[in-house]
Amino acid sequence: MSLVILGGSSSRPLAFKIAKELNVEFMEVETRRFPDGEKYVRILGDVSGKNVVVVQSMYHRPDEYLMEYFLIVDALKDLGAKKVIGVIPYFAYARQDQRFKPGEAISLKTVTKLIEFAGTDELYVIDVHRHRVEEAEFSRLAKIPVFYLTAMPELAKYAVEHFNLDNPVVIGPDAEAEFWAKIAAETIGAEYDYLEKQRISDREVVIKPKKLNVKGREVLIVDDIVSTGGTMVRAIDVVKKGGAKRVISACTHPVLVEDALTKILLAGAEALVGTDTIPSPVSFVSVAPIIARNLRERYL
Ligand code: R5P
Repeated sequence: MSLVILGGSSSRPLAFKIAKELNVEFMEVETRRFPDGEKYVRILGDVSGKNVVVVQSMYHRPDEYLMEYFLIVDALKDLGAKKVIGVIPYFAYARQDQRFKPGEAISLKTVTKLIEFAGTDELYVIDVHRHRVEEAEFSRLAKIPVFYLTAMPELAKYAVEHFNLDNPVVIGPDAEAEFWAKIAAETIGAEYDYLEKQRISDREVVIKPKKLNVKGREVLIVDDIVSTGGTMVRAIDVVKKGGAKRVISACTHPVLVEDALTKILLAGAEALVGTDTIPSPVSFVSVAPIIARNLRERYL
């Protein structure tokens, strides 16, 4: 089966790496702006009868990248592509997945609907924010098969090998992150836990690991996203105060707004390790092999 990989303007290097891993054609797409600000897209190759993978992360300019994605996918369908497989490594709008206040848009629902409507046949996402929306729900919203991939095993392996971690304990900064901590810990054969808020009295709350003691331990804190860094900084403070000997932070999506990285390092983490779902100064781990492995299993 012939498979072609192309990347929107947020993800060309990643798309190229995936094509190399799979040893399949990488196709160029011309993307630019008209003088009035509208997007222009042109597919520079023959896609007729081929399965085409479109890689487009949704950061740093989610709206622009989404629009570009819709134009690319619809053009591919017009040009006779057999199947269009969307790979959206960082999926924006996932956190607005319900109406928290009356009148709010449920952004995740709108975005997934449009992705399907544009002509996406199948969708791959990586470590999507999952407080409320899980895999089955996502597929139901999008009305197409959605495959969830995770970078946690690769992040954990990288942290252990690169920083020579000795019998580390993996910690999630909150209850939701226990999911990520478990995957990371199981990969490296470590214990894991998450930070829990415990109410001591009407006025006093303590945050500490739910069951494990981190005193004297090397700690790997993992989360899906580091955005402002607030969640990670709080977690570093807690484990440091709990006596952790060393702390390495890791996340799949280094959104890193403002001075998030500086705050994390100042808080006492030796390093922050992220992936290239979003190109950043800490994108040490590539998700290309993870995506390639999954595409190979299904399409080659
Ligand atoms: C939230 O629930 C996510 O899992 C992350 O913990 C959060 O998005 C991180 O955001 P920030 O870096 O702004 O604290």
